[in-house]
Amino acid sequence: MAGKKIIAVVGATGAQGGGLARAILHDPTSEFTARVITRDPNADKAKALAKLGAEVVAADVDDVESLKHAFQGAYAAYCVTFFWAHFSPEKELANATAMAEAAKHASLQHVIWSTLEDTRRWVPLSDNRMPTLMGKYKVPHFDAKGEADHIFTDHGVPTTFLLTSFYWDNFIYFGMGPKKGPDGKLAITLPMGDKKLPGIAAEDIGRCAYGVFKKGSELIGKTVGIAGEHLTGSQMAAAFSAALGRELVYNAVYPDLYRGFGFPGAEDLGNMFQFKHDFEEYFCGARDLAVARSLNPSLQTFAQWLGRNKSSIPLE
Ligand SMILES: NC(=O)c1ccc[n+]([C@@H]2O[C@H](COP(=O)([O-])OP(=O)(O)OC[C@H]3O[C@@H](n4cnc5c(N)ncnc54)[C@H](OP(=O)(O)O)[C@@H]3O)[C@@H](O)[C@H]2O)c1
Repeated sequence: MAGKKIIAVVGATGAQGGGLARAILHDPTSEFTARVITRDPNADKAKALAKLGAEVVAADVDDVESLKHAFQGAYAAYCVTFFWAHFSPEKELANATAMAEAAKHASLQHVIWSTLEDTRRWVPLSDNRMPTLMGKYKVPHFDAKGEADHIFTDHGVPTTFLLTSFYWDNFIYFGMGPKKGPDGKLAITLPMGDKKLPGIAAEDIGRCAYGVFKKGSELIGKTVGIAGEHLTGSQMAAAFSAALGRELVYNAVYPDLYRGFGFPGAEDLGNMFQFKHDFEEYFCGARDLAVARSLNPSLQTFAQWLGRNKSSIPLE
């Protein structure tokens, strides 16, 4: 471990940070080592990463002093917020501010901020194509991340802005998996019409982030968008059918119907899919598959991800 540069990883026991921590720890030739940041160093996931060689440090993104301690002596940090744990864009902004402040305090040489678009740049609040949510957002879990970009810049933190994509893992963990329709056929339901949805294996986000860090200062100040594939609902359904060996169809619904599904965050996600639908050319263009593959040569396609994960997808 001696002599290796420390990358402090926020969310290391979760999807994005976990992919990065494992990418570092599984590379014996790495010039980096991973510092896992967790609220509970005694939890199983933290202990499993410690077993792989990670240093584990307790911190909470709600507590700037704990972050200052956790970033101290590190070369770099991966910074991510946890919208779905609290549904508060204001909390995301506060957490981003705390991470930027701690990064500055520790004089980090490189930070990756896991961000998304502030959709209000494309759909101002006065645009009634989709409802305004929580008083001042169109897609709350996107807008606050995009709004937070300047916080890192304002603090003078050398930052790469990583635009992530829809995790295919949402088909396992986020309640978006295939459901049986009235006709008895399995279906995935998305308000994407015939437009392409950039998607990625969650594990590959962290691997791409590792690729960004390996490039040194080259991508500081840059926005890097990543995806594993851009696929229509029909293309995803065809891949599902092939992987599962049974027919699965794509159920394209209107965003209004999706927003009314009633689960927590349905309106936010309905607006998000409508944004991705209405600005398909921009949204896919900002997530270049070749760039992602150059950062992470083992980048998975949807079919490859399905091959590895189909047994974990809950099927009715
Ligand atoms: N789902 C998607 O398709 C998608 C796509 C793009 C972007 N995103 C964004 O991804 C973000 C979440 O990232 P993720 O999926 O990697 O998260 P995740 O898998 O839910 O992992 C969250 C991890 O972060 C830690 N954590 C939670 N609250 C914390 C806090 N207050 N302080 C410190 N650590 C905390 C937890 O670790 P401990 O319990 O060990 O502390 C947990 O293991 C969200 O903001 C979401 O909008 C999601």
